[in-house]
Amino acid sequence: MTLRTRILLVILAMQLLLIGVLAAGSLDRLRRDIATETRMGAQTARDLVLATIGTMQGAVPPDRIMALLPERLTEPHHARIGVVDGLDGTLRQPPGPPDPVLRRPDWFAALVAPDPQEMRLPVVVGGRPRGYVLITGDPAAEIARAWRDMRDLMILALATAGLQALLIAWAVRQALRPVGTIATRLSDLIRGDLETRIGPLPQPELAPLARHVDRLAETLEQAQADRRRLQQQIVARADAERMAIARDLHDEMGPCLFGLRVEADALREAAPDAATAQSAAQIAAIAEQISRVNRTLLNDLRPMAVGQLPLPTVLGDYVDDLNRRFPETRFQLEVASGLPEPDEATALTLFRILQEGTTNALRHAAARSVTIRLWTDPAHWRMILSDDGQGIAPDRREGTGLTGMRERITLLGGNLAIQSDGAGTRLQARLPRQQTDRNRTTK
Ligand SMILES: Nc1ncnc2c1ncn2[C@@H]1O[C@H](COP(=O)(O)OP(=O)(O)OP(=O)(O)O)[C@@H](O)[C@H]1O
Ligand SMILES: [Mg+2]
Repeated sequence: MTLRTRILLVILAMQLLLIGVLAAGSLDRLRRDIATETRMGAQTARDLVLATIGTMQGAVPPDRIMALLPERLTEPHHARIGVVDGLDGTLRQPPGPPDPVLRRPDWFAALVAPDPQEMRLPVVVGGRPRGYVLITGDPAAEIARAWRDMRDLMILALATAGLQALLIAWAVRQALRPVGTIATRLSDLIRGDLETRIGPLPQPELAPLARHVDRLAETLEQAQADRRRLQQQIVARADAERMAIARDLHDEMGPCLFGLRVEADALREAAPDAATAQSAAQIAAIAEQISRVNRTLLNDLRPMAVGQLPLPTVLGDYVDDLNRRFPETRFQLEVASGLPEPDEATALTLFRILQEGTTNALRHAAARSVTIRLWTDPAHWRMILSDDGQGIAPDRREGTGLTGMRERITLLGGNLAIQSDGAGTRLQARLPRQQTDRNRTTK
């Protein structure tokens, strides 16, 4: 049950209780009033009858008094008069005003009707009883008036209660409206939208809540920025380390191997015998092999072109090289035009995805065609690499290649989705764009 319904129900119950108490109090008062009025009506009727008989005594022949009495009387309010002749027992009533139309429900009449009031006044003329006058209280008109009053009062009370309930429902709704805003804001936070704020609220009870939600969003935003910065530092540091190793391999190993080859060549030239010359030639061949391995290592550790040339060129060169070396598989690169130049960590990651993805397609997929798409949305770098090979077998676990790719992407705050079935494999990578790359575009 909503808070609003609950508040309304409590208030309505209170209203109904109040109306009930009011009705019970009114009923009690009405019952007493009606009884008093009826009693007074009967009393008035009695006075009237006595006075009328008094004036008739002497003025009318005694044996005519009973016959003329009903004509001389008029019924007062709230009482009925009946004249009963002692001789023949007939009952005659004086003419009264026409009965008004009285409307009231029977249950109400039963609730407020007073005890019946009846009085018999014997008529004695010349010392002889001639009959009697029957006076009964008649509360009907009073009951009908009381019903009208009561009904109007109840209608007024119910209308007021209804109006009050409407006003309260409206006020509660207005007061609780910001709760909806706060809930929406919190679910925005859960979805990762940390930027919008609720702002100050006019409701003093809810304002601190809104303030705290806004503070929470700020703190989260700050924490996320910190985390992103740290992740980038980790990736950048690892890249820097690789670069240092690559530099050492290049600067230290390279010249040594070159010197070794030159010396081996010199030894072969100056060898005193064929066996020494052959050994020298072999040393030169081994040195040549080591420097080939060294070059591959260097390229793996740090693709030299990344960061030096625009990313589309680096990726294009790599794909051209693949197409040359593996003519039975068609590699196709689609790069959106006008891309910004990413920061170096992102560029290196995109290059690594291409490198590992194409290598996997060649090694495991037996693919005939591999397509790589690169584009950006307002907040991300997006790369999809799909092949038409046999797909990743369900029992296969991710090896160093895919795990390393995922780790690197996650460290930069992005994500990697891998879909694979019998028709091929599809890697979808999404990397957040840095503030710095948003405005720069490649020339
Ligand atoms: N494009 C693909 N098509 C079919 N199978 C794939 C594909 N990519 C990966 N796999 C399967 O997933 C496994 C894990 O791939 P991953 O790149 O992580 O490791 P690897 O290629 O076996 O080894 P590494 O990359 O460390 O040299 C692979 O051994 C292969 O069975
Ligand atoms: Mg691999």
